[in-house]
Amino acid sequence: MIKYGENKLSKKKNWKFKDIPSQTGKVAIVTGANRGIGFEVVKTLARKGAQVIMACRNLDNSEKAKEKILSEYPNVKIDIIHLDLANLSSIREFVTKFQEKYSRLDILCNNAGIFQAPQQKTVDGFELHFGTNHLGHFALTGLLIEMIIETINSRIITMSSWGHKFGEIHFDDLDLDKNYSKGKAYAQSKLANLLFAYELQRKLEFKRRIVLSNASHPGWTRTKLSKSIIIRIFNPFMGMKPEKGALSMIYAATASEAEGGAYYGPNGRLGIKGYPIKVKSSEKSHNLELAKRLWEVSEDLTGIKFPI
Ligand SMILES: NC(=O)c1ccc[n+]([C@@H]2O[C@H](COP(=O)([O-])OP(=O)(O)OC[C@H]3O[C@@H](n4cnc5c(N)ncnc54)[C@H](OP(=O)(O)O)[C@@H]3O)[C@@H](O)[C@H]2O)c1
Repeated sequence: MIKYGENKLSKKKNWKFKDIPSQTGKVAIVTGANRGIGFEVVKTLARKGAQVIMACRNLDNSEKAKEKILSEYPNVKIDIIHLDLANLSSIREFVTKFQEKYSRLDILCNNAGIFQAPQQKTVDGFELHFGTNHLGHFALTGLLIEMIIETINSRIITMSSWGHKFGEIHFDDLDLDKNYSKGKAYAQSKLANLLFAYELQRKLEFKRRIVLSNASHPGWTRTKLSKSIIIRIFNPFMGMKPEKGALSMIYAATASEAEGGAYYGPNGRLGIKGYPIKVKSSEKSHNLELAKRLWEVSEDLTGIKFPI
């Protein structure tokens, strides 16, 4: 029985690139893969032998990112399929194109995210953080879940953040129309990411499916995620290189000891930097009632019912 959120500090030495098992024969999707952490997850999984699909909304930037990897590692297998998580039709089109070409899905990395953006709506009218970071990945996973279940030992990894600790799910105003703040919007979406990852694991376990759903966070990683001047000033001192920041997600996706319903992040002080270990998430993220209600609301809003 998995104890959700148990903080099991690894006594082993730091988990690095050389510890990643071969991924040959596997098919992986990474969202938000054209830069930052997603780019590094793609590079690493591809170097370890997986066929990786970059699921991105900007095809020019994705092509450049792919070329960059190929110029260093010419034999890796990387494909690009357009995906805009802020648009449910685009998510459906992505899944159709993916399933026309591939017949298995071993790893789904729900990585893409936006952070503290001004108040905006997705194409379908959802608040941008909640719609992109949570509902977009919820819908994507729901449309792919049958294929994931059919693939033996598959995994779904959802990216959260330290910021989830400040999150609440505002069921009476999920779009935060009454009282918008960038911080509140990001924190809500990142708490939703964890509630989703844990609830999915419970549902899969209940149906005895051999699929892991877990979550990760990258501590403080030096990427273009934040537009904040303060964060950008401190990035070179506080932030890890994206290559290292990506390790927690890669650990959750590939390590033989990684578990379903667990949360992985850096082992350093305050979880800001370091190598992947199992970490704790907030009490709220383990609230069963909250998770169940969010799941039902997410199915209603997206119109996508999970067949599990
Ligand atoms: N960096 C950190 O310190 C940190 C800390 C905690 C959590 N995280 C989480 O880590 C994840 C990756 O962030 P990052 O730091 O690598 O940021 P990043 O460099 O800004 O990358 C974010 C990626 O998400 C993509 N994206 C945004 N909206 C999208 C949409 N509607 N459809 C498809 N893709 C979309 C972006 O694509 P475009 O290039 O088209 O914009 C980009 O590829 C996020 O979930 C973030 O919340 C990061």
